[in-house]
Amino acid sequence: MIAILDFGSQYSELIARRIRETQVYSEVLSYRTTAEQLKQLNPKGIILSGGPNSVYADHAPVCDPKIWDLGLPVLGVCYGMQLMVQQLGGRVEPSKTAEYGKASLVIDDPTDLLTNVESGATMWMSHGDSVTQLPDDFVVLAHTTNTPCAAIANHQHRLYGVQFHPEVVHSEGGQALIRNFVYHSCECEPTWTTDAFVEEAIREVKARVGDKRVLLALSGGVDSSTLAFLLHKAIGDRLTCMFIDQGFMRKGEPERLVKLFQEQFHISVVHVQARERFLAQLDGVMDPEVKRKRIGHEFIQVFEEESRRLGPFDYLAQGTLYPDVIESADTNVDPATGERVAVKIKSHHNVGGLPKDLRFKLVEPLRKLFKDEVRKVGRSLGLPEEIVNRHPFPGPGLAIRIIGEVTAERLNILRDADWVVRQEINRSGYYHDFWQAFAVLLPIRSVGVMGDQRTYAHPVVLRFISSEDGMTADWSRAPYELLETISNRIVNEVKGVNRVVYDITSKPPGTIEWE
Ligand code: XMP
Repeated sequence: MIAILDFGSQYSELIARRIRETQVYSEVLSYRTTAEQLKQLNPKGIILSGGPNSVYADHAPVCDPKIWDLGLPVLGVCYGMQLMVQQLGGRVEPSKTAEYGKASLVIDDPTDLLTNVESGATMWMSHGDSVTQLPDDFVVLAHTTNTPCAAIANHQHRLYGVQFHPEVVHSEGGQALIRNFVYHSCECEPTWTTDAFVEEAIREVKARVGDKRVLLALSGGVDSSTLAFLLHKAIGDRLTCMFIDQGFMRKGEPERLVKLFQEQFHISVVHVQARERFLAQLDGVMDPEVKRKRIGHEFIQVFEEESRRLGPFDYLAQGTLYPDVIESADTNVDPATGERVAVKIKSHHNVGGLPKDLRFKLVEPLRKLFKDEVRKVGRSLGLPEEIVNRHPFPGPGLAIRIIGEVTAERLNILRDADWVVRQEINRSGYYHDFWQAFAVLLPIRSVGVMGDQRTYAHPVVLRFISSEDGMTADWSRAPYELLETISNRIVNEVKGVNRVVYDITSKPPGTIEWE
């Protein structure tokens, strides 16, 4: 295992993912983790992440100085390198020229950490401070025009620092550098594989659950589906999957999901029909947040009633993923007060969230995984691509894509328009070019003409976006022909819609959903 001490970098998770790509397990830990705690975790090496502070600022986050006595290889990245230098007796000062963006690396020592990294490689820089004096026994491995100490090492103690960010994709040879650290400096073995994870997770679930029963709320997304497969493999019919049909899913999806699980995967699913109940909750509701709250609340009601009816259960399975459990990077410091403030802003809008006082114990076998790793696990367990690579779909579903009041009639209109979108992006082969692609129904009406008739009906908005993680997004430059086909079909086939418009707003300032 490689331990990453997080000093508040936006890239700490990315470092963990890059290391895991080399088939070595890694975890992001708070920079406050002590040397003693690290010793218990028994890592093969440590990475000190970047961070938004200056090492010489008051209240700058520092690591336990005893980690230098652990005898472990350490790689400091950006702030992490500066901290290493400062703690070991070197000097860090504000740079004359701050360096942001790409820089060309000139390699002075092509061995050790920089084996297989080419001189002239482009590396991603983002720093206003620089190392101006190395600690004893350190040498320069590489420099750039503006940064004399771009990569440094104390070969004997396997301590390394890089001013650039090897973890970002723009850094050429960044992955080679990470591999060098992981395999040569830390002498790790490639043990973090999907098969090894699955085997271990099944063993752990069996040991933990024993002959008790587990309840799982299945949504049809990749996380809960993977969880269902994994648990079914571990405990068979002692797993009960409950699918609550709120009535806000896409056309045909509830039926398809239940059929797939029962008939193809032979995992039985309790299909709870609750459409009327949810719709009644939204009667007269216009405000998006009230919609979410009402749906979330109703979900819990139904879930509790059904679990009582089907139970008793000892365990509740949850698809918690690693980004949800990472010790948060609370390392930014308010210069006025010295108080630490969270730098990570992550809105969590899962309506499937269950209250803490439910009387179940939790089973969370995916809690060590990133999303891309869940996909790999799902695939290796036999989950079909249509689930593994499904676009994200919000918990409140179509209810937050109907602007204004949600009624049965409006749900039907949107479901039909959305169906056309889905059919056409599948048919055209563009499905995987989009992060999400969907329709939104507006409550206003506009004038149109069909045949010799004047129409006065609703517009549908097409929202096709590209994104890496849903936190930021750009509107997709979808082919005109595809848009044209979709527009024609919607206006002709979906009663109540006479106009189709395309949303060309990025996020920020827009959000992906309209509500
Ligand atoms: P926004 O609209 O915030 O969406 O840019 C970012 C991502 O989150 C999804 N989303 C939700 N998911 N419950 C969910 O489970 C919600 O209430 C919710 N609202 C937005 C959205 O589809 C996108 O992937």
